[in-house]
Amino acid sequence: MIPMSARGDNPLRDAQDRRLPRIAGPSGLVIFGVTGDLSRKKLMPAVYDLANRGLLPPGFSLVGFARRDWADEDFAQVVHDAVKEHARTPFREEVWQQLAEGFRFVPGEFSDHQAFENLKTTIQDLDKARGTGGNFAFYLSVPPKFFPTVVEQLKKHGLSEGTEDSWRRAVIEKPFGHDLASAQDLNQVVHQVFRPSDVFRIDHYLGKETVQNILALRFANTMFEPLWNRSYVDHVQITMAEDIGIGGRAGYYDGIGAARDVIQNHLLQLLALTAMEEPSSFDAKALVTEKLKVLKAVKLPRELGKHTVRGQYAHGWQGGEEVLGYLEEEGIDSGSRTDAYAAIKLEIDNRRWAGVPFYLRTGKRLGRRVTEIAVVFQRAPHSPFDTAETQELGQNALVIRVQPDEGVTIRFGSKVPGTSMEIRDVTMDFAYGESFTESSPEAYERLLLDVLLGDANLFPRHQEVEQSWRILDPIEAYWDKHGKPEQYTAGTWGPRAADEMLARDGRSWRRP
Ligand SMILES: NC(=O)c1ccc[n+]([C@@H]2O[C@H](COP(=O)([O-])OP(=O)(O)OC[C@H]3O[C@@H](n4cnc5c(N)ncnc54)[C@H](OP(=O)(O)O)[C@@H]3O)[C@@H](O)[C@H]2O)c1
Repeated sequence: MIPMSARGDNPLRDAQDRRLPRIAGPSGLVIFGVTGDLSRKKLMPAVYDLANRGLLPPGFSLVGFARRDWADEDFAQVVHDAVKEHARTPFREEVWQQLAEGFRFVPGEFSDHQAFENLKTTIQDLDKARGTGGNFAFYLSVPPKFFPTVVEQLKKHGLSEGTEDSWRRAVIEKPFGHDLASAQDLNQVVHQVFRPSDVFRIDHYLGKETVQNILALRFANTMFEPLWNRSYVDHVQITMAEDIGIGGRAGYYDGIGAARDVIQNHLLQLLALTAMEEPSSFDAKALVTEKLKVLKAVKLPRELGKHTVRGQYAHGWQGGEEVLGYLEEEGIDSGSRTDAYAAIKLEIDNRRWAGVPFYLRTGKRLGRRVTEIAVVFQRAPHSPFDTAETQELGQNALVIRVQPDEGVTIRFGSKVPGTSMEIRDVTMDFAYGESFTESSPEAYERLLLDVLLGDANLFPRHQEVEQSWRILDPIEAYWDKHGKPEQYTAGTWGPRAADEMLARDGRSWRRP
């Protein structure tokens, strides 16, 4: 007899079943570039945290690949140290012991054919010894110039194809290309080896709870969506501000800059989630369809000189410490024109958003570390109150705080207690930390688990990546030809030109 819940005629029971944790089936993960920064700080801890939460299969195996003369035990020690330092959940010896039995290390260069043959043997051995079932994800946590080499090596050595009963998947870090043409080239190389549905491009912002909450907020409620359009919204500001400089990442950052590093991926994804229409369901295909539609409707302003700004932080003070300017950082050419700050104005050419500007900005060494989406509403069409009494009333706003202090703030006007009708802005807050007892998983935990489950909802598809480059390319081309970044003092909120850009529209940036 079929159990009631499987027949689907007990809705309550079905709903409960869907809340059960999603546990990955038999599988393993190969990390290329396993000695790198990202791997130690994010990937190794995420693997442990998943194991600790009971979300990995018992025979889960982790294979590291890099140019070190390490035995499996040396690799295990490195993972151990990384987990102790960076894992989110408490260290439990029994979880660690079971997980570490599945650790293997394969030394080698990406160009070394023998190393890939060794990797193949390692995977076959793991299938036999630990029941990984031939299911492996290959995580390319490597400098972007090596993405094609590694993918091609996987193909050459027969590692990229699963069988009828097993899968092989590729996980690719950002940046995915440095312009439209290079992204298209890379997509072509990758798709010659892996099926599009087996390619998982990482935009770790999409793994954040608060980013997924944009969709919950908009489409699981009735009170926001009726206002979410040009009839009520004045403009939208999307900010990702960092208080740090480029640190030791000059080699990566110089020549790439803030717009390519952050706007092309994170901020345009946030824009897409904020502005898209309701998907027909919450599956990857339906989500991509809607995100792509809105990205295609994004329109660049005609005068790029007036509606885009780039900057570089200059020497200053931050958090009580004296800090170097961008051009003084180690490894940066004193004539560099790379943007460490970028702000752009975009419009969306559709019925919902016509005429509503979306202002995107990101930069290093700004006033504080914060990522937020602020939907700023129009002023009330008429005010029966005395202007003197509403002087401190701003525009209503709904702010989705992506990080830190994850949550949502609504700003509106309220009467100040007293005998007059004075009205001032107040805020109503929802904070994740206060409303929910469980702490949010790290983005990489969620995304790694999704890769093992084959769930592509939170991964940008190749069309989205290409569309985002289509938006950014003309801006980069304009910047290449015209002027240079404006200097701003470290610890402030960016170049003066960015304030002027909004002031010309009668608006101002938020100071989060
Ligand atoms: N770090 C971050 O927070 C961050 C954020 C976003 C995106 N990403 C992306 O994530 C990826 C990794 O970043 P990362 O900061 O971890 O880089 P990284 O610290 O420079 O590490 C690069 C890794 O690649 C390996 N490698 C380099 N050349 C190799 C070769 N010829 N053969 C074999 N192995 C080689 C290195 O191994 P050896 O030990 O052999 O040198 C090292 O493990 C990049 O695509 C980056 O853009 C990183």
